[in-house]
Amino acid sequence: MTQTSAEPFHSRHLLTLEGMDSADLTALLDRAAQFRVHFASDPRPLTLLEGRTVVNLFFEPSTRTRMSFELAARRLGAITINFDVANASTRKGETLEDTLATIEAMACDAFIVRHSENGTPQRLAAHARRAAILNAGDGNRAHPTQGLTDLLTLRDRKDRVAGLDVVICGDIRHSRVARSAIHGLQALGVGRIRLCGPAHLLPDADEVPGCELGDDFDAALENVDAIMMLRIQKERMRDEEATGDNYFDRYGLTAARLRRARHDAIVLHPGPINRGVEIASDVADGPQSVILDQVTNGIFVRMAALATLLEPNA
Ligand code: CP
Repeated sequence: MTQTSAEPFHSRHLLTLEGMDSADLTALLDRAAQFRVHFASDPRPLTLLEGRTVVNLFFEPSTRTRMSFELAARRLGAITINFDVANASTRKGETLEDTLATIEAMACDAFIVRHSENGTPQRLAAHARRAAILNAGDGNRAHPTQGLTDLLTLRDRKDRVAGLDVVICGDIRHSRVARSAIHGLQALGVGRIRLCGPAHLLPDADEVPGCELGDDFDAALENVDAIMMLRIQKERMRDEEATGDNYFDRYGLTAARLRRARHDAIVLHPGPINRGVEIASDVADGPQSVILDQVTNGIFVRMAALATLLEPNA
């Protein structure tokens, strides 16, 4: 796993999928799949991380990532602590670095970090004396375990990632999920990635080499194998970036639109979904949706990440 894009898999931290190669990604996905098989027949917690402590350090809201990291750590036998931002001494002026050092001095082994500011997990990784830092989403930069979750779900349903034709639609400019998905998909040899949304919500082309950009969702859907829908991230937008009232008409995934894709195309969404904004309910709940599979896979991917970082030789 990488600390920076140039560092190898066996780094102490998981900060981004950028620079991770196919072998490293596949090893993580395979380990997640092994945990899934194991827990299907035996739900008892493992002892792999017995005596270890994992701290959730979330400075932004989360349901899926925070809970699945907690479940993952517990299923590996670790103790978990949820840092209470609203009542913590960061409110009395303590810096993030001092907060990290303070909790690390309580013999904690891993920090799961979510923050609105790009680069915060990297900053803390540079400061950590012993603990592993796992990025649970920083600004619009990276969300590596969500990317792994998406890759595992795609690989499960399509038996491969190489050669697939994928469209990502929505607020890509503000999406750390899209960036991590793109890095992972490209490393595994995806055939084509089309990025679609209103022009002002698309990333700059030089930020996403190898991707096709466009604002016509109907055209972008033609014959794709997988569609990843994204939420409009109002919390990261300036007023002038608002999407207006006709967003769903142009970019909402409806059953009629879905028929433009291949008949066996799957629909992904990292969540939280906003029904009637970017996706119709009958599609979100329909037979081609794998949204809840993504949620379930998130636990096993996070188990794989924690086990690989904290017990690399197990
Ligand atoms: N996909 C995702 O990061 O969801 P949460 O914000 O609920 O963790």
